[in-house]
Amino acid sequence: MTPAVLGSILQAIGNTPLVRLRLEGVPEAVELWAKCEWFNPGGSVKDRTALSLVTEGERTGDLRPGKTIIDSSSGNTAIGLALVGRAKGYPVELVMPDSANAERRALCAAYGARLVFTEAFAGSDGALLRVREMVARDPQRYFYADQYRNPANPLAHYRTTGPEVWEQTGGRLTHFVAGLGTGGTVNGSSRFLREKNPRVRVVAVEPAEELHGLEGLKHMASSILPETYDPRAHDEKVSVGTDQGYAACAELLEATGLLVGHSAGAAVWAARECARSLQGGVIVALLPDSGERYLEAGRGK
Ligand SMILES: Cc1ncc(COP(=O)(O)O)c(C=O)c1O
Repeated sequence: MTPAVLGSILQAIGNTPLVRLRLEGVPEAVELWAKCEWFNPGGSVKDRTALSLVTEGERTGDLRPGKTIIDSSSGNTAIGLALVGRAKGYPVELVMPDSANAERRALCAAYGARLVFTEAFAGSDGALLRVREMVARDPQRYFYADQYRNPANPLAHYRTTGPEVWEQTGGRLTHFVAGLGTGGTVNGSSRFLREKNPRVRVVAVEPAEELHGLEGLKHMASSILPETYDPRAHDEKVSVGTDQGYAACAELLEATGLLVGHSAGAAVWAARECARSLQGGVIVALLPDSGERYLEAGRGK
């Protein structure tokens, strides 16, 4: 394989590798594959979303030189927007709960983004309400990327993630498993995959508990429902406990050498449950980020 030669770091977003997972409990006739999204330059699946939010903003004219990109995110979208904004020369402001981990804050700040903090107890919904207030007060100043409502978010996955997993499995994919945060990944990928083959089953993963440790995932029943989430986009929803997600991370590391984040662990846990119920099939689990992003949490901070 010839290494890529690129005109900009933004062209390195997408085209992430698919890695075969051989885990206990997966039947012989079932192939389980991991879509390794931490290979994106900002370290997560959210680089795809960030790039799409920004380029669609430019295309429609909502984002122009002189405007500041703003959004609420406690993690990966924030890093993605900070990266894309920096590469394209737009200032970036990010609103996040006070509880956002130190590594994420430092990364966003390193890319030059301005950070605004909201009360930790109000969670991601608190940051969302604050960003809406800020934009309403100064609409001329901001381009509100709005990952929870902007169709450019699922569009990123319709245009890139879906086609990639389809091609990488040679069209043999039978199941696609991914977590629900904004719902963008599931929504856009599902739309593409079902167009290719209406029999592909899409499995959405959500935290079993309202208060959970699966960062990036939303417990929909107790959250402000994102407009980018469409319950019709998945055929089934699997609830994964925080302990199960963490245990799957540890097992994956032990069995395969992959160090993944907690929402990725939850996706692997759900994918294996799905595998156990099958006689045969080709399952792709989307793993949003790496465990490197959670080392701080692992030390009990
Ligand atoms: C670590 C992690 N996992 C899963 C997700 C969920 O992805 P989506 O927002 O496309 O539903 C996110 C989104 O921020 C994330 O950061």
